[in-house]
Amino acid sequence: METETVDFLIIGSGVAGLRAAIELAPHGNVLVATKDMLSESSTEYAQGGIAVALSDEDKVGIHFEDTLNAGDGLCNEDAVKILVEEGPERILELISWGAEFDKEGTKLDFTIEAAHSRKRVLHARGDSTGKELERVLLNKVRSFPSVKKYPFAFTVDLIIKDGECWGAYILKDRKMTAVIARATILCTGGAGQIFARTTNPMVATGDGMAIAFRAGAQLEDMEFIQFHPTSLYSQYAPQFLLSEAMRGEGAILRNINKEPFMKNYHRDAELAPRDIVSRAIISEMVKTESSHVYLDMTHLEKDFVRKRFPQIYSTCLRYNVDITNELIPVSPAAHYIMGGVKTDINGVANIRGLYAAGEVACTGVHGANRLASNSLLEGLVYGARTGRAALEERNALRITHYDTAQYAPAYHTIPEHDEIRMTLRKLMWDRVGIIRCGESLKEAREKLSEWAFILDKVFYTRRELELKNMLTVAMMITEAASLRKGSVGAHYRSDFPEKGKDWKKHIALSREDDRIKHSLT
Ligand code: SIN
Repeated sequence: METETVDFLIIGSGVAGLRAAIELAPHGNVLVATKDMLSESSTEYAQGGIAVALSDEDKVGIHFEDTLNAGDGLCNEDAVKILVEEGPERILELISWGAEFDKEGTKLDFTIEAAHSRKRVLHARGDSTGKELERVLLNKVRSFPSVKKYPFAFTVDLIIKDGECWGAYILKDRKMTAVIARATILCTGGAGQIFARTTNPMVATGDGMAIAFRAGAQLEDMEFIQFHPTSLYSQYAPQFLLSEAMRGEGAILRNINKEPFMKNYHRDAELAPRDIVSRAIISEMVKTESSHVYLDMTHLEKDFVRKRFPQIYSTCLRYNVDITNELIPVSPAAHYIMGGVKTDINGVANIRGLYAAGEVACTGVHGANRLASNSLLEGLVYGARTGRAALEERNALRITHYDTAQYAPAYHTIPEHDEIRMTLRKLMWDRVGIIRCGESLKEAREKLSEWAFILDKVFYTRRELELKNMLTVAMMITEAASLRKGSVGAHYRSDFPEKGKDWKKHIALSREDDRIKHSLT
């Protein structure tokens, strides 16, 4: 096996990974490894925008309160304070690097989304905010000769020696390389692909969480999965996010009988927190025995809709839905995982040398439910902070010679891996989805354990490696959802609809002698 040595290894090239790379580039050599093209990440597909307290009517203190309210009592307040206070500086810096957010005249245009009490969501090219961020950050990263990029390189496992992280084993062109790094930063994003319905791109298979768990890291808050209320529902179209900003601009939800219903569920109607809107939609779908509801924009000015949501307009049109004239069939879909690799407010995990930032990490900033459009901001703020924290490892002399002979896996193959992937995704959607109960979780655990033979194998193909990671993360989500006997934020148990005793505690899972260890903090 070949060995390569770098100062900083960053796994993932979304907003958090690129922002960390920019922080580290002046101080050493950086390798950004990602399993697909550099631009292929959840960031690239983010539509609605990026929340930041920069408008005349807003204050960081109000953004702080809104974030805590959405988090339903489980946010880490220190992490939220950092997010809202450092957010404006990160955005202004991004603008100075060339980011072009939409304007009203000469002023930045802020929109509103669910659970925000002020207009504070910046957007770019209408509904292509993530693309704009990715463009600017990639350009900036490319300006540093010290940053090397490895696209189509799959991180199989972390290198752990004497309980410390020394880098990672990376598979590229069917060749495994041991990348030795002083600091390894996971920025691999989320795990939406574990569910049959998701707004996430194909790359979101929970890889960072799974490799960290295998290495001995703690995963926290894994039961908290955010389901986005409005994903396009059509037999003929791919699942496609219909931004919450559409409801922010006045779109109305109607059931299959075309009746508006959100006022029956929450005083903020369409702009109630996402978990409430998603459950209200499920409830209407059950009542009316239908597989979807409708999002209605037909009362809004057509030209405005086309200009404000150009990407959504043209994508829907491609699948024969003219959103300016017709009701749009929608249903909820898995969107974001609040849990992940447990870190402190500097992205430091419980293994020396290992860091995490962005959706893969759990600082506790989102609590039990993320406030809309806080995730891109989290990537910027915590990507930069984690980069700064990783600099501390620069002069540490803890890494000496690494003998690659320690890693000599036998490669396996599972011919039926695609069937297992499909069954797993369906199982997670049906049994560990928006509404869970003891019975459904038990069924899921039993079925998932039938595939446990996959967990200790190493594979050559991306699909099989992803499946192993998806299975690990699915097991952790199911475990945490079974342990939390109560309903908080995005985690809803029909057998325990109240918050219940000890609801303020966080559940952390780690691996100990091939068993799952739980700790409550
Ligand atoms: C959306 O545009 O609705 C997604 C934004 C987010 O998840 O924060």
